[in-house]
Formats: sequence, C-alpha cells, structure tokens
Amino acid sequence: MSDSFYELGMIGLGVMGRNLVLNFADHGFPIAGFDKDTAKVVALNKEGEWKKVKGVNTLNEFISILKKPRVVMMLVPSGDPVDSVINDVLPYLESGDLIIDGGNSHFTDTNKRFVELERKKIHFLGIGISGGENGARFGPSMMPGGPAEAYERIRLMFEAASAKVNGSNCVEYLGPGSAGHYVKMVHNGIEYGLMQLISESYDLLKRGLNISNDELHEVYKLWNETELQSFLIEITSDIFLQPDDKASGRLIDKILDRAKQKGTGKWTSQDAMNLQVPLNTVDAAVAMRDMSAYKSERVNAAKIFPGKSLSYKGDKNDFITKLRSALYFSMITTYAQGMAMLLSASEEYKYNLKLRDVARIWRGGCIIRASLLEKITKAFEVSSGLSNILIDPAISIEINNRSNDIRFITKAAIDLEIPVPAFSASLAYFDSYRSAKLPANLVQAQRDLFGAHTYERIGEEGVYHTEWNKI
Ligand code: 6PG
Repeated sequence: MSDSFYELGMIGLGVMGRNLVLNFADHGFPIAGFDKDTAKVVALNKEGEWKKVKGVNTLNEFISILKKPRVVMMLVPSGDPVDSVINDVLPYLESGDLIIDGGNSHFTDTNKRFVELERKKIHFLGIGISGGENGARFGPSMMPGGPAEAYERIRLMFEAASAKVNGSNCVEYLGPGSAGHYVKMVHNGIEYGLMQLISESYDLLKRGLNISNDELHEVYKLWNETELQSFLIEITSDIFLQPDDKASGRLIDKILDRAKQKGTGKWTSQDAMNLQVPLNTVDAAVAMRDMSAYKSERVNAAKIFPGKSLSYKGDKNDFITKLRSALYFSMITTYAQGMAMLLSASEEYKYNLKLRDVARIWRGGCIIRASLLEKITKAFEVSSGLSNILIDPAISIEINNRSNDIRFITKAAIDLEIPVPAFSASLAYFDSYRSAKLPANLVQAQRDLFGAHTYERIGEEGVYHTEWNKI
C-alpha cells in the first residue's frame, strides 16, 4: 500500500511511538512511522506485519505516503528535539496540515510553537499522553489541547485507541492552546506526590515495623483491594516480589536510593508558585527527589548524626490500618491540590477546563488512575465550579474520618525518626486550608513595621500603615 494512504504519520519510533502506532492500527487506522534509526523502522514493520502499518526511514517517503491534509505526530523527548523535528518536517508540509506533539512539552514551549506554526498556516495540537509503554500499546489516557477543529480531525482515532472505563473514553478535548500539555504537567505533579507518599509508607513499614518484602507485597496487595485501589499501589505490591536478575535476593533492595526526574514535577511546583496556588505535597515530593540525589552527603551526615534505628513498639496491625487511612487522606489532599491548581490555571490561561472531564479521563490508562477518581469525577458532576474537592460533601466525610489517623502516623514517624515530608505536607495543607484564622496577621505586621508595606484591618475597607513603636 502506498500513495497518500496513511491517516497519521508518527515521527519517533521508540517504544512509546511504536506502541501507539500499533494501537491505532489495531483499531483499523492505517498509520505510517518514521525514524532515522533503521533498526526501529524494521522493528515496527515486523510487529505491524499484519496491520495497516508502514515504517520508513526517509522523510521524503514518509510524507509522500500520508493522506492529505496530513497529520504528523511526534513522540520525542521534550525541548530541543521537538523543535528540531518541527524544523525538519516543515519544508515538506502544506497549509492545512496538522502537527501533533504527544510528548511532555513545557506548556510555554507549546504556546510558542502554536504562534509560529499558525503563521505558517500549519495546525498544531499538544496532547499529553500517559500510561507508559503498556498504556501506549493497549489504551493510554490522552489529554488534547489546541484548536477544537483540529482535534475533531483525529478524534475518532484517538477515542478508539484510548483506555476505556465503563465504556467511556479516557480522552477528551480539554481546551485551546497548551491546555492538554498543562493538564499532563499537573498529572505528573500529582504522580510525584503519590509516589513520594507511597515511598514514605514503605519506609514506615520497612524501617518502623521491620517487615519483609513478602509482607510488604501482601500489605500493598490487600490495600489495592480497598479504597486505595490504584495503578501505583498495584505496581508497588508487584515490585516487592521481583527477584534480583544479577544476584540473589530481591531487586528492590539492590536499587540505589537516588531518584531521577525529567522535570515535569518541578515545572508543576514552579507554575503553582507563579499562580500562587499552594501545592504542599507536590513541593515536598520534588524536594525529596532532590534530597535523594545528595547520596554521599547523606551517608556522611548519617555518621555525624546517627539515628536510633527505632522500631514501632505498639500493635503492628493497628499501625498498618492507620497507615492505610493516612495514605488515603494524603492521596485525596494531593489530588485536591492538583485540581485547585487546574482551576486557577484555567482562569489565568483561559483554558476553559472542565475539571469533571479531566478527572474522568484520568480514571483509566494513566499513571495516576485510581478508584478515588470516581469520587472526584462525581464531585465535579455535582458542582462544576467546585473550588476544592475537600469540601465536596462525600469527600469531606472521607477526610474527617481519617484526620486522626494521619495525625497518629505523622507523630509516630517523628518519634521513629523516619522522614515523612509528604505526609506532613498533606496534613499541613488540610490543617491550614480549614484554619479560619492563620498567623498571616503577624506577617503583615512585620512587613508593615520594617518596610511600610501596609496591611488590611478586619472588617474594614482599605489599606493601613502604622508608625510602629520600635524599641
Ligand atoms: C506518564 C508519566 C511519564 C513520565 C514518567 C517519568 O504519565 O506516563 O508521567 O510521562 O515521563 O513518569 O517522569 P520523571 O522522569 O519525571 O519521574
């Protein structure tokens, strides 16, 4: 098959690109693939042998076999590679063709690319895609942003390839411009928060209760059958069983405790600060990835400040039950922070996001999929402008029922000398969000005293300055 036959052309045939091509093709869509690396092209053609798939390694041929107006999608690392692909492909494209960036691009880069491509009369969509290799192959969650008419051209293809939850597609047009990449960025911020919380729960179970990998597997497996049911809890349970492939023992105990990051969590925290939205748990998670990188300093400091290696003396089962409850409380507050950030960003950047749709398409396919998202979707169905999911009547009951447990776990962690910055941040987020009065009056007094920055008075209009009595 040749001659302008293929409905979409994929640039970048790494695992993600190849799997997405095969996924589209499984649903009957003819897809072309391009990569400079011949081995990747060969791999695609082999796997796609019985499907309407064709991999090529020259741009000329690639463009010539795409149906017009063309749809060219790329799945390449964010940053310069995206610009370089756009520059390579542009000379071959014509007015009305569509470029899709399916990577984790920074939303400000996406905004710039829109402007540049619009000038050249090329349509552009920024689509966040989540779910890793397996998701790309069998159903990811996809977060499209850009011109609605451009999305309409590819809608059926993306709906077919997306994950499904109770018959509903985990893809939905989210809004103009960089809306899709923005929502994916916040998805990743939440992902960082949840991963850090689960890691802290592991630390408490392992160091605080001295439980084995087999028991850890059992705990997370059981948790995954409760309100904590989620992809991240499920894979955590599996991780503890994985044997080391190079020596005896379990792999988890051989992995260096230094976490890497590609930046999306940090971007979320950075933009939350720009928007002045509190993101306590995500900030703590980003900081802990950074702290983990200081491995040699930590090893040295551990000698100067040796801990007492304490173990929990109380009832183990009771501790595990409270930990499960504290984890659920903290997961709720993490989604709450992400959703509140999206609400503010939607207003600031004019995305016109429907948070019900965001929660709905996150229920399947993506890394942060969790049964909790059913409740969050319902919360936005009941009240589309909900300012914070914590005050949704159903969710507030879950939170109230668990606030003693998160307090218990945080205090126990302090006594055990086990750091739990994400748990503490989640509790602090809740405690400050529900504090009708915060000590910010003192901050205002200090600012006015040393810098005449003025303050507002309770129950009175206007701003005030006082000549403070300085001793
Ligand atoms: C997804 C993930 C993915 C991300 C990885 C690694 O939704 O499929 O979010 O996009 O790249 O999780 O991210 P870090 O390297 O920053 O941990």
